[in-house]
Parts: sequence; structure tokens; C-alpha cells
Amino acid sequence: MFNRILITGANGMLGQELVKLMGRKPEYDVLATGRDAEPRFKGGSCGYTQLDITNAKALERLFDDFEPDVVINCAAMTQVDDCERERERCWQVNAEAVEMLAECCRNHGARLVQISTDFVFDGEDGPYRENARPQPLSYYGRSKLAGENHARAAGMDKWAIVRTVLVYGAPDQGTRGNFVTWVYDKLKAGEAIKVVTDQWRTPTWVVDLADGVERVVRYRKSGVFHISGRELMTVNEFAHRIAESAGLDANLIGKADRNTFTQPAERPAKTGFIILKAETELGYRPHDLDHTIRKTLGLSTSSRSSPSSQA
Ligand SMILES: NC(=O)c1ccc[n+]([C@@H]2O[C@H](COP(=O)([O-])OP(=O)(O)OC[C@H]3O[C@@H](n4cnc5c(N)ncnc54)[C@H](OP(=O)(O)O)[C@@H]3O)[C@@H](O)[C@H]2O)c1
Repeated sequence: MFNRILITGANGMLGQELVKLMGRKPEYDVLATGRDAEPRFKGGSCGYTQLDITNAKALERLFDDFEPDVVINCAAMTQVDDCERERERCWQVNAEAVEMLAECCRNHGARLVQISTDFVFDGEDGPYRENARPQPLSYYGRSKLAGENHARAAGMDKWAIVRTVLVYGAPDQGTRGNFVTWVYDKLKAGEAIKVVTDQWRTPTWVVDLADGVERVVRYRKSGVFHISGRELMTVNEFAHRIAESAGLDANLIGKADRNTFTQPAERPAKTGFIILKAETELGYRPHDLDHTIRKTLGLSTSSRSSPSSQA
């Protein structure tokens, strides 16, 4: 029997990766949805339809028409500083729309997989396990935590929350850049950059994240899962790993701290995840960091310096 999978936010970084992964598996019947009239990705053996998740009527219509078994909500307002400035819009997308999605799921007996973030934590005592107490510092974090709480209303054992951390991957069509591509582009152009030494993360390759999410669906898991990379490092150290993996000049990477930049939203200092639960219950195994950086940049994964086409 087909598992009818509805993916929201399918034009974003994670959404596109999930469409790629789940769209080619015969056991899934995937419907990708995004705000645009047309998909930003090409190919993929799945349907696509326009959906703004804040539109209650459109949501109900889509549930009636498609009758999903599982909804994977990748749609979110993800720019942390924009969320701090545009609070109403942020709350509508990250909190209220999830409440509506959960209600539709409950009414139709569908399961809801809600994607969330390390920014629900205050960064005082990372790396975090799933049962750590959330304490968001930013409006983005607060809205995502509210989204998590709404997702639980999908029904007993009918919800899963997948939290992740600092996601990177090869930019797909129409997705914005990410930290790896930003560092690479700057260093390649010979530009000096400043990167914080007082924020710790477990960076996550989007391909690994999509694999983890698909496992949550495949094994019909409910509850909270932390899915990220394995290595905990400062963002500055991550920039050095990118330079090293790409054979670029790491001397261009300067040090910064929380006082260097004026940003509207406060960032947690030390997050990062302990991924033991995902490893044990899902068989999740993230790839080696240097390998994934090189894959992201379209560099050969056998030698350190020769570029090749993106796999
Ligand atoms: N990227 C990270 O480092 C990171 C870290 C931790 C957690 N997360 C979480 O991971 C999830 C996926 O994020 P991502 O990295 O894939 O972000 P992304 O590339 O920004 O994708 C989010 C997508 O949601 C769409 N969207 C926004 N509002 C919508 C609405 N009202 N209706 C339908 N779609 C809407 C966006 O559409 P437009 O393209 O039209 O704007 C975008 O395509 C999010 O829940 C995010 O909070 C991400």
C-alpha cells in the first residue's frame, strides 16, 4: 500500500532534499507543496501543488483531496533576524499554521512530522538530549517551540518532532545559500571573514537530515528526535574545516564573538545535539564531516583539491 506523503515547504533546502529522496521510493506517493505556483526543483517523481500553510481553507481542501497518511512540515520562516523584526508573520507561519496542520491531521487520521530547531534551547548546557528543557532566546525559537507544542495535538502517537542544527547542503534550485557555500565563496574570492568562536554547533548535512526524517516516517516513530551531525565545534572551527576540506586559505578566517555583530536576534551559545536516540531507534548514521563539505561544494571526495561535478 502507498504511503501518501504530503511535504510542505518543498521548495526549501530540506524540502527539496526530501522530495529527491522520498519521490524515488516506490513505497511512497509524494505530493510536494510550496508557496510558488510552480516547483523550484526539476524532475522528481512526485506531484506538486501550490500551498501557503497559513491558508486554512487551502489546507482543508488539500487534506480532502489528497488524504495524506503523513505530513512532513518543512515550511517555516527560517531567517532568525527577520523573525525578530516581523513577529506577526513569523508567528503565523511557525506556530499558528502548525496548529492548523495538526488539527487537519487529527481530523483525517494523518501523522505529522514537524521539523524544529536547536534554537528552542538557551545554549547554556549543550549538547542537548531530546528531554532537555527548552528555553528559547529569540522570537524564532519561541515560535518554533510553540509549533512543536501544537504539533503534539495531531493525536496520541501521531506526531513526531525532528529538531536539527545548522543545516548545509549543495544549493538546489532557488534555495538560499548556506554557511558552507558562504565561507567557500568568500575564501575563494580572497575575502577575509569573521566567524564567531563562542557558538558551538553540531553542523548537519541536509542529505543526512532527510535520511533521518525518512526513517522517522518509515518506522512510524513518534516523539522527539535530535538529528544532526556528530561533531561538536565552534562555528569558527567549522569555517576552518571548510577551508581545509576545500584547500582554501584559512588565514582569511578571523575571530569574532557575540559582541562583534549587531544582530536583532540573540543566538544560543552552545547547542549541538546528542544523537544517540536517533542512532539507536532509527539506525541514523551521519556521514563524515569533511566528506559532506566536499560533496556540498562539488569537490572530488577522493582527492583533496581537484573539483568535480556535483554527485
Ligand atoms: N537551515 C538551518 O540551518 C536549520 C537549522 C535548524 C532547524 N531548521 C528547520 O528546518 C526546517 C527546514 O528549513 P530549511 O533549512 O529547509 O529552510 P528554507 O530553505 O528557508 O525552507 C523553508 C521553506 O518554507 C517555505 N515557507 C515559508 N512560509 C511558508 C508558508 N506560509 N507556506 C508554505 N511554505 C512556506 C519557504 O518558502 P519561500 O522559499 O517561498 O520563502 C521555504 O521554501 C525549518 O523548520 C527550520 O526551522 C533549519
